[in-house]
Amino acid sequence: MHLGTFVPYMALLTDLHSRIHRSLRISIVDKCDLRCTYCMPEDQQFLKRDALMTREEIRTLAKLFVEKYGINKIRLTGGEPLMRPDVVDIVRDMAALPVKLGLTTNAMRLHLFLDDLIGSGLKSLNISLDTFDAERFRTLSRREGHDRVLANIEQAIDRGLHVKLNMVVMRGVNDDELLRFVELTRERNVHVRFIEFMPFAGNKWGRDRVYTYAEMLGRISSMYTIEKLDDDPHSTARSYRVVERIGGDSMSWKGTFAVISTVTEPFCGSCDRLRLTAEGKMRNCLFARQETDLLSAMRKGEDVSPMIEANVLAKHKMLGGLPKFNPDKQEEVLDGLSGRPMVAIGG
Ligand code: 5AD
Ligand code: SF4
Repeated sequence: MHLGTFVPYMALLTDLHSRIHRSLRISIVDKCDLRCTYCMPEDQQFLKRDALMTREEIRTLAKLFVEKYGINKIRLTGGEPLMRPDVVDIVRDMAALPVKLGLTTNAMRLHLFLDDLIGSGLKSLNISLDTFDAERFRTLSRREGHDRVLANIEQAIDRGLHVKLNMVVMRGVNDDELLRFVELTRERNVHVRFIEFMPFAGNKWGRDRVYTYAEMLGRISSMYTIEKLDDDPHSTARSYRVVERIGGDSMSWKGTFAVISTVTEPFCGSCDRLRLTAEGKMRNCLFARQETDLLSAMRKGEDVSPMIEANVLAKHKMLGGLPKFNPDKQEEVLDGLSGRPMVAIGG
């Protein structure tokens, strides 16, 4: 090392399984304008406003994670983050940090914010879309708005944002649309992600409703020749591109698709993610049963650093300590879930 080289002190968040955590998902509000059945029960109760982190508190915690602990990736989630009136300010605050920034949305309100989000430095969006069928959208999300969502997705792609579409694939619900989603990657520069249906409190999960990674690939490769693409070492998704439709014309497909196999092949070994719920509770795993109340401590003026470090050290090797999602152990899995539905954890 040359004299004078400045090496900033950074306490990377390493757990007992040698995983270094550099990615933080921050839920900024737990409310949502949809009621997707896989995400929340019909009668979900939402937090009162003063229970939520303020813009300032989000910034303070995010800065701590970035500057002290080397977090270099932040994703803003909800609930639905665009339900929060100050979302653009929060995006601007996050974009000022040295992180790769993303936001996950259902796109219902995207037309209201698109210009400002782009203007604030957002480059990448994950958008939930589970069906191209309006009636099915109504059943799945228990709300109206399918047309608007589709139009807003088009807009986001046209404006040059890097768009990933998340489809939760459920057997007997929307698995028949799998190839329709693959077709979308022919002409559009869009990245479709097929997600195995995961169990959360109140989401009517059943192992038999999980349309598996193996089934998805089998179905897709029966129609298309596909090539595997390189994935980031911490990626939860395995990505592919269609080379050609079997028996069809050969052309280059603009988009890509990926499969997220949390249920049948969890990727916990390379997990680098931490989460903050909208009320400032830290979770070391999507399936964690314990959380650390950083916000209350911060409001009392306490130093939250030791709490963050302890939370990381308590991270289980796999699935928050749940047994694997084995069909014979379905009851055990459902029993072991944290009390939170997905909407209150933050996607
Ligand atoms: N299984 C899989 N993915 C889910 N999401 C929400 N609930 C579930 C579930 N039960 C994903 C959706 C959404 C993101 C916020 O979280 O794809 O895009
Ligand atoms: Fe809302 Fe997203 Fe949950 Fe659907 S998946 S209810 S859009 S938070």
